[in-house]
Amino acid sequence: MNKKGFIFDLDGVIVDTAKYHFLAWQKLAKGLDIDFTEEENEQLKGVSRVRSLEKILAWGNKTISQELFNDLMGKKNEEYLNYIAEMDENEILPDVPRVLNTLKENKQPISLGSASKNARTILERVNLMSNFDAIVDGNDVTKAKPDPEVFLIAAKELNIKPEDCIVFEDSVAGVTAANTANMISIGIGSKDVLGHADYIFNDFTEISDDFIKSLIEN
Ligand code: BG6
Ligand code: MG
Repeated sequence: MNKKGFIFDLDGVIVDTAKYHFLAWQKLAKGLDIDFTEEENEQLKGVSRVRSLEKILAWGNKTISQELFNDLMGKKNEEYLNYIAEMDENEILPDVPRVLNTLKENKQPISLGSASKNARTILERVNLMSNFDAIVDGNDVTKAKPDPEVFLIAAKELNIKPEDCIVFEDSVAGVTAANTANMISIGIGSKDVLGHADYIFNDFTEISDDFIKSLIEN
C-alpha cells in the first residue's frame, strides 16, 4: 500500500473554532475603536496571534507600545480560551471522523499542522488526540503561515517527502504555505477565497472515500 502524508490544519478544518478567533479579535478590535469585516477576517485565518494583531492595528492605523501589544495578545487569548473551555466532540466538523477513519484503515500517516498554540488543548477537548501520528503547532515553529515551515516539519515527523503530502486547509495563508511546500493543497471552504488550492470542497461531506483512496494511489 502506498503511503502519503496527510496533514490537517485545525481551526476551521477539524473544528469550527475559526468563528471563536473571529469573535475574540472583533471584541478586542472594538475596544481599540477598530472595525474589520468578515472579508478582512479571511486574512487573519491561519495567521499567528502576533501577526493577526499587527494586521488589525495596521487596518486601524494604530501604533501601540510593546507592553500594550503583549497585554492585548494575552487578553485575546483569554477571551478565546473562554470560548473553547466548553468544547466537546459535538464541535468536530461533519465527516472529519469518517475521513480520519478511512485514512487509518488505509494505514496512512496523519499529522496536525496548525498555527495555534492552543492546538493540543483543543484536540484533547474533542478527543481526537489519538488519531494523529504527529502534532505540529504554533509552539513548534518560528515562521507563521504562509511560510511552509509548519508543514515541512510535519512531513519530516511523518517521514514522508513533501511532494507526497496532502494538506487540508481553510485559510488563504495555509493554502499558500502548502503550495510553497510543494504539497497537494485541499481547500476547505469557498472557491472565491481558496481559488489557489489544488482541490476545493465546501466541507468534508463532499470528500468521498474514493477521492481519499485516489490521493493515496496517485
Ligand atoms: C490559526 C487560526 O489556526 O491559529 C488563527 O486560524 C490564529 O486565527 C492562529 O490566530 C494562532 O492561534 P492561537 O490559538 O495560538 O492564538
Ligand atoms: Mg484554519
